Amino acid sequence: MTDSTRLRIAIQKSGRLSKDCQDLLKQLGVKLELREQRLIAHATNMPIDVLRVRDDDIPGLVMDGVCDLGIVGENVLVEAQAERARQSLPSDVNKLAKLDFGYCRLALAWPQELGAQSKQWFEGKRIATTYPEILSQYLARENIKASVVMLTGSVEVAPRAGLADAICDLVSTGATLEANGLMQGETILESNACLIQNPALQDDAKLSLINKLLPRLRGVKQAKE
Ligand code: PRP
Ligand code: ZN
Ligand code: MG
Repeated sequence: MTDSTRLRIAIQKSGRLSKDCQDLLKQLGVKLELREQRLIAHATNMPIDVLRVRDDDIPGLVMDGVCDLGIVGENVLVEAQAERARQSLPSDVNKLAKLDFGYCRLALAWPQELGAQSKQWFEGKRIATTYPEILSQYLARENIKASVVMLTGSVEVAPRAGLADAICDLVSTGATLEANGLMQGETILESNACLIQNPALQDDAKLSLINKLLPRLRGVKQAKE
């Protein structure tokens, strides 16, 4: 059941940010009963519903006002903003806080056996990525003409599968690159998880609830420092 008077927060259902998001909500005092297969979890002690979705869907849900808040990686946010702006769809969000988890970098990588390479090497190459907007902007900025191959997953196997010469993907520990014999190059974007809000949100009750949660968020951050 859905109820539009309840504050809706979108978080990643399963992936790198899920556990930290659930822990954060708990630290903010939001009591949730999360059942494995449920899309929506109702808080039992506050008028809050948590929607668990694919991370790539979170920016759009918040930009369109389907959800009031979202927790998402800046990498996913920046990509979605560029894509939606190009399609003339709403692409604004209020960034309420940068969170202290989900750190990763979006970096170029290529087969290790090729050894160190300069930027010029990418000229005329095919680069596989899940972040075509961010990569295209980088290539334009650097004046490199390369083709962008969009893959929604398994980007790290693209060179071996002959789908691309190089990749542009998220690196956290570096284990995925290492396991796939790839060498890490330049970082294009550094990213953390962040809390975003629909900029058109006007509901006084929801806004005052957010204003109650934000100082708690700062408290949680300080306690960790
Ligand atoms: C990213 C990336 C790699 C992995 C890198 O995926 O695509 O697969 O993390 O992490 P590592 O350097 O610690 O090995 P993510 O978890 O964001 O999942 P997704 O691509 O399904 O969104
Ligand atoms: Zn319900
Ligand atoms: Mg993803």
